[in-house]
Amino acid sequence: MPRDSNGHLTPGRISGLRAVPKHIVRPEYVGKQAPTPFTGSDVYEQEAIERIRHAGELAAAAIQTVGEAIAPGVTTDELDGIGHDFLIANDAYPSTLGYRGFPKSLCSSVNEVICHGIPDDTVLEAGDIINIDITAFKNGVHGDSNVTFIVGEASDEATALVERTRESLRRAMKAVAPGRQVNVIGRAIESYAKRFGYGVVRDFTGHGVGEAFHSGLVIPHYDAAPAFAQPLEVGMVFTIEPMLTLGTHEWDQWADGWTITTKDKSLTAQFEHTLAVTEHGVDVLTWAPERMSA
Ligand code: MF3
Ligand code: CO
Ligand code: CO
Repeated sequence: MPRDSNGHLTPGRISGLRAVPKHIVRPEYVGKQAPTPFTGSDVYEQEAIERIRHAGELAAAAIQTVGEAIAPGVTTDELDGIGHDFLIANDAYPSTLGYRGFPKSLCSSVNEVICHGIPDDTVLEAGDIINIDITAFKNGVHGDSNVTFIVGEASDEATALVERTRESLRRAMKAVAPGRQVNVIGRAIESYAKRFGYGVVRDFTGHGVGEAFHSGLVIPHYDAAPAFAQPLEVGMVFTIEPMLTLGTHEWDQWADGWTITTKDKSLTAQFEHTLAVTEHGVDVLTWAPERMSA
């Protein structure tokens, strides 16, 4: 439905707010314009890391469940309903719902949408790529993850972009070790992406996550050295969420105040994990468990 004559996405119709049962605890920012600035630490005790893992696994399992429903003819609003219901059934709050006014329980970012797409009556078509970004809040902490899916079969170019974006996150995670600088993460992503001539989005970054959805710690996905020289520490928890494009890294924002597209409408893909820094590397907190019930 909402596509222009060039096949580019246009804003669609956003459905009404979905209900969250009263017994599910809301993050502090719900019902307010913005979150209270976070003054806590990005370094967590093991007990808190296990809570973030539980929230993170729920987010990852919700993404998988949504992914199983992705097919031509399905709307992004229907996918939002599936993700919402999964989290609610697991006593988790969908962190994006009411975050700075975001109206939905997940971000659905199709084709040239880099991130923060709002689920609406957009109908998926074979050959689209769609990122599903879900954050779950439970037991006082958030876990944040995203995956790009292919609808049916996509072009070789689109398929390669998706696979190489997934690989860029893998490489970034391998670069993490205590004592290294934050900027090693973006260096790993950018050096890999450059081989293929891909754009590396700079203005949307990874972030500290846990007690806050976005703690204030920023993790660039490009080589920011000598900036971002802060050393990684055991127990630090943050996301890495590279966005790569077939064209420019420059972007536009829709009038909805959220949807971010590539300026040249080139295709873009993203993957995200929440992780904790360990003695030896990383502990990924957003692996989907084999089977999690709704
Ligand atoms: N989950 C996104 C991230 O990875 C943030 C979405 S905020 C929203 O940081 F308001 F756009 F939903
Ligand atoms: Co994130
Ligand atoms: Co996210």
